[in-house]
Amino acid sequence: MNILIINGPNLNLLGKREPSIYGKSSFKEYLPRLKSEFPDTRIDYFQSNHEGEIIDKIHEADGNYHGIVLNAAAYTHTSIAIADAVAAVSVPVVEVHISNIYKREAFRHLSYIAANCIGSISGFGLKSYRLAVMSLVNW
Ligand code: DQA
Repeated sequence: MNILIINGPNLNLLGKREPSIYGKSSFKEYLPRLKSEFPDTRIDYFQSNHEGEIIDKIHEADGNYHGIVLNAAAYTHTSIAIADAVAAVSVPVVEVHISNIYKREAFRHLSYIAANCIGSISGFGLKSYRLAVMSLVNW
């Protein structure tokens, strides 16, 4: 089984960016720990600050991965194009957020992507990714 994690804009700054909200660990520090919890699953990682690159990656993943874990970051709340990309592919996608988007500003309460995903996980810190991988492994 293989899973692709896609992180959107500003998530390259995890560890430095608003640590009271997103924690003190970078994703690069967290990824080996996550991989070690799923020794039978190949987990690939892609991060981009650019909407079109995220869309291209979702298209490329179709047929090449068993599932996608997608944290589209701020694009969650703005991007019909990413929502359409998720709807266009047959690979299952789990939406992930580190913070609990429903506890935050009203503009974060809307996800254009959620309705096209098999499910959404929000608010468990970096553990949200573990829960998402777990849900795809058992899908
Ligand atoms: C986020 C929540 C978004 O509202 C925000 O724009 C992010 C990160 C999260 O993981 O909690 O960049 O997706």
